[in-house]
Amino acid sequence: MSDGAHAVITNAFPRWDRKLLFKILNNIHDVVMVIDSETTIVYANEAYAKILGVPVAKVLGRRLDKIEPKAAAIDLMRTGKPYKIGRDYLDSLGIDVVGSTFLLYDGNIIIGCVSIFKNITDVVELNRELQQTKGVADYLKEQLEQWEQLPLSFKEYVGQNSRLKETLVLAAKVARTDSTVLILGESGVGKEVLARAVHNSSRRKGMPMIKVNCAAMPEDLIESELFGYEDGAFTGAKKGGKLGKFELAHSGTIFLDEIGDMSLTMQAKLLRVLQEKEFERVGGNKTIKVDIRVIAATNRDLESMIEQGTFRLDLYYRLNIVPLTLTPLRERKDDLFELAKTFLKQFSGEVGHDLTLSPKVMRFFQEYDWPGNIRELQNVLEHASIVCSGKTIEIQHLPARIIPTHNDFNSEEKPYAVKEILARMEKELILSALDTYNNNRTNAMKALGFSRRVFYDKLLRYGIE
Ligand SMILES: Nc1ncnc2c1ncn2[C@@H]1O[C@H](COP(=O)(O)OP(=O)(O)OP(=O)(O)O)[C@@H](O)[C@H]1O
Ligand SMILES: [Mg+2]
Repeated sequence: MSDGAHAVITNAFPRWDRKLLFKILNNIHDVVMVIDSETTIVYANEAYAKILGVPVAKVLGRRLDKIEPKAAAIDLMRTGKPYKIGRDYLDSLGIDVVGSTFLLYDGNIIIGCVSIFKNITDVVELNRELQQTKGVADYLKEQLEQWEQLPLSFKEYVGQNSRLKETLVLAAKVARTDSTVLILGESGVGKEVLARAVHNSSRRKGMPMIKVNCAAMPEDLIESELFGYEDGAFTGAKKGGKLGKFELAHSGTIFLDEIGDMSLTMQAKLLRVLQEKEFERVGGNKTIKVDIRVIAATNRDLESMIEQGTFRLDLYYRLNIVPLTLTPLRERKDDLFELAKTFLKQFSGEVGHDLTLSPKVMRFFQEYDWPGNIRELQNVLEHASIVCSGKTIEIQHLPARIIPTHNDFNSEEKPYAVKEILARMEKELILSALDTYNNNRTNAMKALGFSRRVFYDKLLRYGIE
């Protein structure tokens, strides 16, 4: 023991009382530990061994700044702050503690430091579980209001198309493992439905699947949304901290939707979590481990994003272990009517009578491109089911946006009506140019090669606003 710690003890008590003093210290259920000015551990009571599981003889004489450089005592010695009360985390032992630490002085000179603390790991662990349960409950409540009625399993997944079947067979296989899954496909093609089917067919199905919409989250919030934050991590932070989506998904699945819309900074942080399955909360230094299955989805072309330097190659490798690609609806029109039937049944229930499609509508559906895929089909049918007061959905019940104007769907059959066909193509080109140039008319006009007068004439003729 160094002279410093002795000095405190012997000065405070007459020699005949030292034994008594140690007895008192050894009967305290909290850890009492003293270090000298060099941070050498000069005293530890019996609770130290019991609570921390390390024999006292093993630590006496060792330097605390080597064993536990982030300990509160080291911090006080370094900064000269006289005391610290509250929670701490012992990195070397993986233990949460609470207590007080204060410097020892001889006059003005710091001669050491005392820490008195108890182990609260069990309490912290219980609290974490409680927080997770509460977090999941809140999340589910929030989602319940937003969730569409999604098919839950592969059995309910509508489609007979052979390419879709291949994807579903592979999906069912991978669902049984813990592998990362990457779902690719255009907007509205059913990526989320597939993610849910994979989760619900996995061993994790009783646990939550937590969705993160990477595109909708502001850059400065996404980190705390994903990893959570500690009490007082930043101004405006919720008291008691907040669990991140990764912790909420513990034992379940995390669904990283629109992964192609994540910034490069966040991609780097995500990569670390995917590799190590561990992270720290914002404003915290404790490493949190989670057991999760990752499903990611995007409608972006990640490979060309990699070429452009906007998506990390290493993250792509991490995610692209089992890619599942969903075919756009226009390439699996064999499923169109079965899907339409499913939705019509749903909407028939809502409007109170049976609904069918007229032959013309069926033909139009076969020819239409369905850029919005299944979601578009669903929306078109919902619109039609409301507008149509009878039982048969006709062309005029479809949303104006997709109603074929200059073609043979709502006129007499004229398969070679060149003028009308050309006019229809011209209108489509104009709309497409306007779309490409974000409705900037001058740019669209230049791209189309029209003079101003001709261009505005055509807009008027085709009723383009
Ligand atoms: N196979 C299917 N059977 C029945 N309904 C489906 C099927 N696939 C998709 N849907 C429906 O289509 C809509 C779009 O599906 P989903 O949200 O999964 O698409 P997405 O690919 O995630 O779209 P986005 O890229 O826009 O996020 C949902 O309302 C869903 O219920
Ligand atoms: Mg989606």
